[in-house]
Amino acid sequence: MFENFKEYTEKFKDLSKVNSGKALCWYDFPSAILKRELQIMIAKNFKFNSILDAYAGIGYSSLIYSECSKNIICIERNKKYYNLLKINTHNRFTYYNYDNIKVFKYFIQKGVKFDFIDIDPFGNCYKQIKFLDRLVNDNFLISITTGEIFTIRRNLTKNTIIESMYPDIDISKYKGLNLIGFLNLFIEKLRELIKIDFKVYYYFISQQIIRILYR
Ligand SMILES: C[S@@+](CC[C@H](N)C(=O)[O-])C[C@H]1O[C@@H](n2cnc3c(N)ncnc32)[C@H](O)[C@@H]1O
Repeated sequence: MFENFKEYTEKFKDLSKVNSGKALCWYDFPSAILKRELQIMIAKNFKFNSILDAYAGIGYSSLIYSECSKNIICIERNKKYYNLLKINTHNRFTYYNYDNIKVFKYFIQKGVKFDFIDIDPFGNCYKQIKFLDRLVNDNFLISITTGEIFTIRRNLTKNTIIESMYPDIDISKYKGLNLIGFLNLFIEKLRELIKIDFKVYYYFISQQIIRILYR
């Protein structure tokens, strides 16, 4: 089980490190492993003309996806991670060191569209989701993660609302919901924000993150 994850952990073990020598964003807790397994499954089973990695970090996702596309566009706003991203991916891709919304607006203005978009933030990404319908071709695939479930569940169990992180979320809506209830609310919110029809193809959900694949 998780043979792909093991193989890629070995493959990426020498990538540049930050955070006092610890690898950033290559984790081995169950939902993180599932995220990587899903990415590898996509890389091995699809072919795309162009991919947008909108939260590129230090490059793991882009490296995995480079197996299924020759045209990878990476956005990373943090300068330190951006520099590592370019080193790790050998300057083979196209890079933007800006907030992704700024780059989305630029692409929309230029009419640039993608076959596949990966949205992999820390926390949530509702502001970004609103732009996605204008950034995809007809035959699109989008993979999206939200980490807000972690904060919301912590707030619900500890009764201490960390409001500053998600001021626009009504935490009370989530009271008494199981994980599938969280997933349904997330998908409902996606349907409100994305102006094109889509079907959910795959999802996984844990105490920390929800990741869904849709087109
Ligand atoms: C969860 S990590 C991404 C991990 C990466 N996809 C991987 O495969 O390892 C999120 C990254 O997005 C960057 N980020 C967060 N908000 C952003 C924004 N609005 N625009 C661009 N980059 C952003 C962070 O600096 C961080 O490196």
